Amino acid sequence: GNNDIDTEVVVLGSGPGGYTAAFRAADLGKKVVLIERYATLGGVCLNVGCIPSKALLHTAKVITEAEETSHHGVSFGKPQIDLEHLRNWKANDVVAKLTGGLAAMAKQRGVTVVQGVGKFTSSHQIAVTAADGTVTTIGFANAIIAAGSQATKFPGAPEDERIMDSTGALALADIPKRMLVIGGGIIGLEMGTVYDALGSKVSVVEFMDGLISGCDRDLVRPLQKRMEKRFESIMLSTKVAKIEAANDGIHVSFEGENAPKETQVYDRVLVSIGRRPNGKLIGAENAGVAVDERGFIAVDKQMRTNVPHIFAIGDIVGQPMLAHKATHEAKVAAEVIAGHKVEFQAMAIPSVAYTDPEVAWAGVSETDAKAQGIAIEKASFPWAASGRALSIARSEGATKLIFDKETHRLIGAGIVGVNAGELLAEAVLAIEMGADAHDLGLTIHAHPTLSETICFAAEMKEGTITDLY
Ligand code: FAD
Ligand code: NAI
Repeated sequence: GNNDIDTEVVVLGSGPGGYTAAFRAADLGKKVVLIERYATLGGVCLNVGCIPSKALLHTAKVITEAEETSHHGVSFGKPQIDLEHLRNWKANDVVAKLTGGLAAMAKQRGVTVVQGVGKFTSSHQIAVTAADGTVTTIGFANAIIAAGSQATKFPGAPEDERIMDSTGALALADIPKRMLVIGGGIIGLEMGTVYDALGSKVSVVEFMDGLISGCDRDLVRPLQKRMEKRFESIMLSTKVAKIEAANDGIHVSFEGENAPKETQVYDRVLVSIGRRPNGKLIGAENAGVAVDERGFIAVDKQMRTNVPHIFAIGDIVGQPMLAHKATHEAKVAAEVIAGHKVEFQAMAIPSVAYTDPEVAWAGVSETDAKAQGIAIEKASFPWAASGRALSIARSEGATKLIFDKETHRLIGAGIVGVNAGELLAEAVLAIEMGADAHDLGLTIHAHPTLSETICFAAEMKEGTITDLY
């Protein structure tokens, strides 16, 4: 035709949503083109999100564990941090291995990768503009939009490299003496954890009355308590009134009952007040795809937009903005295009803050149940009674299970504590399988493990708990 390339499926964006959709469609026999504006595949998650943040959080964990071992008789010296080495390890041994692996997998599957910024020019064509200005037109039968999201900017903040988003914070330019985190959500708390361990004095300002809104308060409390001890301050129900850049630092003034009265000076500021979808940047209007005023694209359970042959997945279709939600939506979109009768129907999507301790939850929360009038029964097991938690000196955790009062099935779970993110997987499977407390209590868990706390919580509900240690 009139296009440079004609394909059955075009995928716009190569994050976890995009590469998964492209690979699945290729595996199902489709001819696939994957468009990405950056030189490496993997999107936010692999390049500047999930993966590099977890690498740095691992380093943070090693440092804090070494510090805290002094409480039980073993002391190490002050850590010597070679920032350049740490940066290179994160970039070359972690991120580059994964993004390079994706490029190889694309090649293996015969997926054509086109580098450049893609924009719809019609409902069957995308034009891709490369860095050197070259335009490649791609004609397609089906499209999957996986263009993701970007950090929300703080309104009125000056342009200054010391005022960073998560990408700037992950770049680890230096270890600021004093750092302010604006927004006490997952990014702010994860990156705050990293910089605290590296030696910065970290403060968090959050305009709501609690950290990690959307998670039950009892699960957030142990994390908040520990952060209050380690961080310089956590200012809740507090607003940033003004941010100004000066030679001696970033000057910030606050408003609110708990707010410092004087202007504070920070070496760096991390803005982590949420992410907004890229829906308005892809020429969607030329294809007739409806984008709401915030930039989200509405889809049905088959990930179809209002234009039947165009699909959308991942952060661009709405909350929760999580990599594993994007990958599961991606498979649905690719399979629907290949003619399979499938839809996205997860019963629970896990959320994990990889802080120290971790906070993890899935399905119906206690807060949801109250708000929506769902009749529940809950069982909560305190880790202070877990032999394993005590033996690793981290007994602040808790494991909470939420059951439907009528069916007795598990419908939600929340865990706070070391490794909560890994532990939650069992509960998510139980929710998907329709398990009840009996099923969980009768499943033999190895002793002494933290996973036993799920079994113990279930037994507490059944009233059959006999031996804890
Ligand atoms: P993205 O990953 O955003 O990918 C979109 C891609 O599309 C990008 O590569 C972009 O360059 C490209 N693109 C956009 N527009 C165009 C265009 N017009 N032309 C060409 N290319 C285009 N989630 C988790 O589940 N676990 C975590 O631990 C986690 N940690 C995170 C840590 C940080 C610091 C951040 C910022 C996010 C984190 N997330 C985490 C969220 C996760 O990264 C996202 O949910 C996920 O990347 C969304 O995938 P996606 O495929 O929708 O889009
Ligand atoms: P977020 O929505 O999780 O948290 C933002 C916080 O900032 C909220 O608590 C909000 O009340 C607060 N806030 C908003 N405006 C503010 C202001 N002006 N002043 C003070 N506080 C303000 O967003 P965040 O942390 O930026 O992360 C974005 C998304 O990225 C997450 O929602 C999540 O989907 C994803 N993510 C997931 C991770 C994971 O799964 N472990 C890790 C990091 C990010």
